[in-house]
Amino acid sequence: MPDHLRKIPYSEELLKAVTDFECGDEDWERPLAAWIKAGPGVKNGALYEMRKRKGKLEVWLHVNGAGELVGYSALGASNWEWPTADDPRVPISVIPNVAIQKRFWGCPKNDPPRYSTQMLEHLVFEARKHADRHPLLGLFVHPMNVRAIKAYKAAHFEEYFRIYSDDEDGVEYISMLLKLAAAPLQRVEG
Ligand SMILES: CC(C)(COP(=O)(O)OP(=O)(O)OC[C@H]1O[C@@H](n2cnc3c(N)ncnc32)[C@H](O)[C@@H]1OP(=O)(O)O)[C@@H](O)C(=O)NCCC(=O)NCCS
Repeated sequence: MPDHLRKIPYSEELLKAVTDFECGDEDWERPLAAWIKAGPGVKNGALYEMRKRKGKLEVWLHVNGAGELVGYSALGASNWEWPTADDPRVPISVIPNVAIQKRFWGCPKNDPPRYSTQMLEHLVFEARKHADRHPLLGLFVHPMNVRAIKAYKAAHFEEYFRIYSDDEDGVEYISMLLKLAAAPLQRVEG
């Protein structure tokens, strides 16, 4: 039987559940674990940003049938030039962060849908609820994060022209965009 993930809105009470969260050791992977594990007083952590953005940043934990914490997903809002760089900015939904614990990557192995697919479908489902935004879902990804780029492409995201330059590490993050109207309808939503 398919292992359908249960989603739980993230809050400070759940901080203990993410203490051991681990999603890889690469430079672009470690900040994803640090973000969800950060306490409410840690600037730029999940709980800090959720409070700062007053409901405009939603975060969920995803738990499998065995009760194990598989990953987390986050949905926020931004303004992007669309459909071209010469057009004005429009309000859209964005995925600031999404991560699956390393031991669950590529899982379930033999019984689809994969956890990555389920979590991205969940974000599409939630983004569609925001009628105040254009039906677009965007994200930035480290150019060397092949695994994530492949998972996004499998979910029908396409590369977009926007670039985000991180002054601290000098990395130019590439953007991807999904037109929600064209995205396949959600299969599972519990
Ligand atoms: C990104 C993430 C959520 C994807 O989840 P996942 O379970 O690893 O994804 P999947 O296994 O379903 O899909 C990844 C695909 O990349 C492939 N892949 C993995 N490593 C690869 C590599 N080095 N080169 C090419 N393809 C690769 C996998 O085989 C799979 O392809 P397939 O569907 O053809 O088998 C997860 O890897 C993760 O949490 N990474 C760390 C945090 C992170 O980077 N988050 C994204 C921030 S933008």
